[in-house]
Amino acid sequence: MDTESLLERRYRVLGRNSPLFYDKPLHLVRGEGVWLYDADGRRYLDAYNNVPHVGHCHPRVVAALSGQAATLNIHTRYLDEHVVAYAERLTGLFDAQLSMAMFVCSGSEANELALRIARDCSGGEGIISTAWAYHGNTAAVMQISSLFTPASKRGPHVRSVPVMDPYRDRAGRSDEELALVYADDVKRAIDSFAASGVRFAGLLFCTAFSSEGLPTLPAGFMGKTLDHVHAAGGYFIADEVQAGFGRLGSHMWGHQKLGVVPDIVTMGKPMGNGHPLAGLVARRELVNAFTSRNMYFNTFGGNPVSAAVGMAVLDVIEDEQLLQNAVTVGEYTLARLEELANRHTLIGDVRGAGLFFAVELVLDRHAKTPATAQTKRLVNLMRDRGVLISRIGMHDNILKIRPPMPFSKQNADLLVDTLNQALAAL
Ligand SMILES: Cc1ncc(COP(=O)(O)O)c(C=O)c1O
Repeated sequence: MDTESLLERRYRVLGRNSPLFYDKPLHLVRGEGVWLYDADGRRYLDAYNNVPHVGHCHPRVVAALSGQAATLNIHTRYLDEHVVAYAERLTGLFDAQLSMAMFVCSGSEANELALRIARDCSGGEGIISTAWAYHGNTAAVMQISSLFTPASKRGPHVRSVPVMDPYRDRAGRSDEELALVYADDVKRAIDSFAASGVRFAGLLFCTAFSSEGLPTLPAGFMGKTLDHVHAAGGYFIADEVQAGFGRLGSHMWGHQKLGVVPDIVTMGKPMGNGHPLAGLVARRELVNAFTSRNMYFNTFGGNPVSAAVGMAVLDVIEDEQLLQNAVTVGEYTLARLEELANRHTLIGDVRGAGLFFAVELVLDRHAKTPATAQTKRLVNLMRDRGVLISRIGMHDNILKIRPPMPFSKQNADLLVDTLNQALAAL
C-alpha cells in the first residue's frame, strides 16, 4: 500500500479535517524503543511522543497486555485484584492526602470527571483555566480548552487567565513578583465570577503548561494562588496528562515540582504506554462525597488488562530508573541545545526540565518577534532528516521536544546535530 493511495483512502473515510502531522504525512508501520519505522523501512528518531513513555512496544508492557488479555478482561463491577493492586500502587506515588483513584480511558474523560467532582463538591460551576490550554475534547472540557475554543464558545462558567511567560514578560521583576501577578490574575477571575453570580468551582491547569509553551515557572509560583482558590471554596485540579509519570525528571508529578498538593490530579497519555488508560487520584473525601451522590461507572476504565498494563509501566519506570535517566539525559540535552543557541541567532530561548524541552524561535532576540513560519518549516525539515519533533505556543514558534523516557545521550546527539543541520538549511 503506497502512502499516496492510503492518504486518499483516509480522506475519503476520515475526512480532510482529521489532523495529520507534517506537510508530507508519515506512514508508520512499526515502533521499538525510541525508534519508529515507516512503510519504506526508513527509521525515525522519536523525539516527540510521550504516550510510548517507556519506549514504543516495550516487551514487558506487551507481555503484561497480551498475558492478561488471554486470561480475563471484564469491567470493574466484578471483583478483580488487578485494579485494586494498581490503585494501591498508583496512590502510593502521591502525597498521603491523595488516597483514592478512579479510572477512565482518556485524558479528556479524566478531566471531565474531575470537573464533575469539583462542581459537585463545591456546589459551584465556575472553572478557571489558562489561555492557550488544551485539556481534551468532551463538551465540558472543550470549554476550558482555550487553544481550540474561542472565547465566544467557552460559555459563562469559564474564565481564562494569561499564561505565565517569564521569557517575554519578566520586565525586571523577581520570581516572587511574577508569582503574585499570576495569583492576582486568578483572584480577578474568581472575583469576576462572583460579580456575575457564578459560584466558583475550581482552577485547572497543566502543571508544565505544555501547550502554552513550557514556561520556566517562577519559584513559589503556586502558593498564593492556591490560597485564593481554597478561600473562594474551589478546588485545584492538576492536569498531569503531559507532565506526569516522571516526565520532568526530578519528580514523578509536575505538582510536586511546584511544591503543592492539589485536590484532584488527572492523568492519561503515558499511563498505559499507548493502551487507553487514564484516571484521577483525589482526596478521599471528594471521591466519597461525589460517588455517594452520583453513580459513576466506566465500562472500560480500570479493566484487568488496563490495570496490568498500568502496573507494567510503573515497573519499567522503576526498574529502568527512567526518572534518573530523564534528569541525566535531560541536563545533557539542554546543555547541547543551549550550545546550539550560540550558533543560531534564530534561537531566542531554550528551556525545559527532565525530558521535556522548548526551543523558542525568534526573528530578533531583542524584540522577540516570533519566527512562526521558520518553526513550521524546521519541524518539517527535521522530519525529512529522520527526527520527529513538533511545535507549541501562542505564536506557534516554539519547538516541542518530548521523547520517550529511555532517550539516551547518543539519541540527544542525533537530535541536536540534526537540528543544527536543519537550522543551517532554513
Ligand atoms: C494536558 C492535556 N490534558 C488532557 C489531554 C486530553 O487527553 P486525551 O487526548 O487522552 O483525551 C491532553 C491531550 O493532548 C493534554 O495534552
